[in-house]
Amino acid sequence: MAPADVQAEVLGNRRLSADYNVLLLDAPAIAAAARPGQFVMIRTGPGTDPLLRRPFSVFEIVGDGGRAPSAFSVLCKRVGPGTERLYRLEAGGCLSVLGPLGKPFDLVAPPAEAWMVAGGVGLAPFAALAGALRASGVACRLFYGARTAADLFYLDDFAARGVALDLATEDGSRGTRGLVTAPLEIALRGRPAGAAVTLYACGPEPMLKAVAALAGAHGCASQVSTERVMACGMGGCYSCVVSVRDSSGRARFVRSCLDGPVFDGAAVAWD
Ligand code: FES
Repeated sequence: MAPADVQAEVLGNRRLSADYNVLLLDAPAIAAAARPGQFVMIRTGPGTDPLLRRPFSVFEIVGDGGRAPSAFSVLCKRVGPGTERLYRLEAGGCLSVLGPLGKPFDLVAPPAEAWMVAGGVGLAPFAALAGALRASGVACRLFYGARTAADLFYLDDFAARGVALDLATEDGSRGTRGLVTAPLEIALRGRPAGAAVTLYACGPEPMLKAVAALAGAHGCASQVSTERVMACGMGGCYSCVVSVRDSSGRARFVRSCLDGPVFDGAAVAWD
């Protein structure tokens, strides 16, 4: 289905901290078509300033009772003038949004378990993924790492969905001190023999590489959501290439906006 190019009204702006916020956007054509792992391109300023849109993962897909979803949210981190504007937007504002774009996650089914691994703003695709997986009865865990306890968000929301939480912070202020891959490795070692687990990861590339390596070492599948510079989101600029290996082991470049952003972790040529 072709992506929709819409003017989306801002329904709410939940500021999570001095740097992070969640924008809820009224965009039925995008919300109804979006799948967990897909992204949208948002023009962060009016007119042509800035010229290029920015990519954001679909964070939540919001429905009204049994009706088709009509809204979705994006998790934003304030890193420059564009995201500064998104941080300051108020309900009633309007944004130009194109989407949904890219390949979504493949959803596992019970009895397989889904273990999500998020680093920092890499939490961005996981509220929608957790919602879809829990709706089909999949047991979910979220391994979530950040710099400090103050940078961990939506914990109550994930817990309310029945997602088990394993936290890590670099300064030790919440959960395990250090990288989130440490509690993940402990959990992989301790899981019952024969338990099928798929790892879903989003965050810094070294974390994705480590997750893919852990998945391989422990006989699990992994799906990684890569973060690439995306100037167009539509396959036209080649700013977003990722090196992947085919079944013969030969590496080739593909465009993350078309062939990703979700890839089989075992297929990415990390070096
Ligand atoms: Fe332009 Fe992928 S973002 S080709």
